[in-house]
Amino acid sequence: MKIILFGAPGVGKGTQAVVLSNELQIPTIATGNILRAAVKEGTQLGLAAKEIMDSGALVPDDIIIGIIRERVAEEDCKNGFILDGMPRTLAQAKALDEHGIGADVVLSFEMADELIKQRLVGRRTCKECGDTYHVVNNPPKKENTCDKCGAELIQRSDDMPETVENRFKVFNQNMAPMLEYYKTRGILHTIDADHPMQDVTDNVLRVLNSIEQSTAAERN
Ligand code: AP5
Repeated sequence: MKIILFGAPGVGKGTQAVVLSNELQIPTIATGNILRAAVKEGTQLGLAAKEIMDSGALVPDDIIIGIIRERVAEEDCKNGFILDGMPRTLAQAKALDEHGIGADVVLSFEMADELIKQRLVGRRTCKECGDTYHVVNNPPKKENTCDKCGAELIQRSDDMPETVENRFKVFNQNMAPMLEYYKTRGILHTIDADHPMQDVTDNVLRVLNSIEQSTAAERN
């Protein structure tokens, strides 16, 4: 199954992607993580992306589409994948379909912007492995230390208040045409993200199971 996790910055897409990837045994492709890795490595892509990301704007569509096409061609994507953070524009959504890598299902995570911002303010990210925590909702076992690899937890540079405002503005400008596009294709499903993490996961799995069941029934 090819799944798109869609929603505002900080709504919980990345958190759910980790769980779903384990549960469904398909990889997650998170464009933000790919770009942050490039920034860390100081590659040409990283140098170009850093300033854009720190301003809260979007990296150009052609760069993102190129990254995704290359990544989904890898062997581990042959049974499906989870896209986290892509598409961000209608052009990206259409490009996925044009290149034959469009999704079977789009899960749109929804929650009030003001509540999401509280999640972003408290988010802490491992500076080595990128694992994500929250100071209140999902604290690490040892303060400021990643449970997985023991490295220091930091606040993402684009989680600063001014950048967060711009990320929301950009998201809200692009959101409606993409939702309409996927609604018309009949693959859009809404997830209420304003629940504890496990409840959101349970709800997502319920939606995916029911899609699989109806697809199987249509086949028979
Ligand atoms: P990206 O990394 O994709 O950031 P984003 O979409 O803004 O999403 P986030 O990673 O901020 O949030 P999330 O929804 O994954 O939330 P999380 O699970 O961490 O993109 C960064 C930048 O890269 C963009 O601004 C852009 O510049 C560029 N970029 C990336 N993709 C691009 C593209 N396709 N095109 C162009 N440019 C692109 O959760 C947030 C916090 O809440 C965490 O602390 C978590 O622990 C907590 N939390 C999660 N779920 C719950 C819950 N249910 N209850 C309580 N707390 C929760």
